[in-house]
Amino acid sequence: MFKKILYLLLISFIVIQFFQINKTPSNALSGDIKTKYSVSESLDKTLKVACNDCHSNETKYPWYASIQPIGWWLQAHMNEGKKHLNFSNFTERRIAYQNHKFEEIIEMVEKKEMPIPSYTWLGLHPEAKLTDPQRQEIIDWAKSNMSLLSSTYPPDSLVLKRN
Ligand code: HEC
Repeated sequence: MFKKILYLLLISFIVIQFFQINKTPSNALSGDIKTKYSVSESLDKTLKVACNDCHSNETKYPWYASIQPIGWWLQAHMNEGKKHLNFSNFTERRIAYQNHKFEEIIEMVEKKEMPIPSYTWLGLHPEAKLTDPQRQEIIDWAKSNMSLLSSTYPPDSLVLKRN
């Protein structure tokens, strides 16, 4: 019985390897956040190693993304992450949306909810374990972008209305 179950598991594992994830869902960068907001070299590095895999179209897939079901699990995170925030189409969104996302970035980074904890499990992505100064740099950047927006646009255009 036990042997049979093991055998079935092995077969299933082999079969699911034929269902690989799509590693190039989109590589459009036309609305890249850097085309509108200045990003220093050091901040750029931090965002690259800690956020871009799930929040941009510049995802770097690790080798284990080719092993299912790990790849499926990673893909689900990336899709979900990009749905909430995508640096590569950021400037194509409404000003109010951009403003709101900076607010969320501040909150997520302050509360240490981002990068999501599983990203650094098992010693993976050690460079994404952000130090306090790195977190502060992201927060300061988002805050200064919010003040830039509030000094450039009428207050009404910064309020996110559901429609
Ligand atoms: C491994 C994938 C992953 C990484 C890396 C990651 N995120 Fe996320 N992020 C997600 C997912 C999934 C969600 C949506 C679900 C949630 O809120 O937990 C999300 C949501 C967000 C949101 C939106 C929250 C909301 O309420 O809509 C912000 C802002 C955010 N992340 C910022 C960041 C920043 C900044 C970094 C880098 C410091 C980062 N994330 C790194 C996966 C990731």
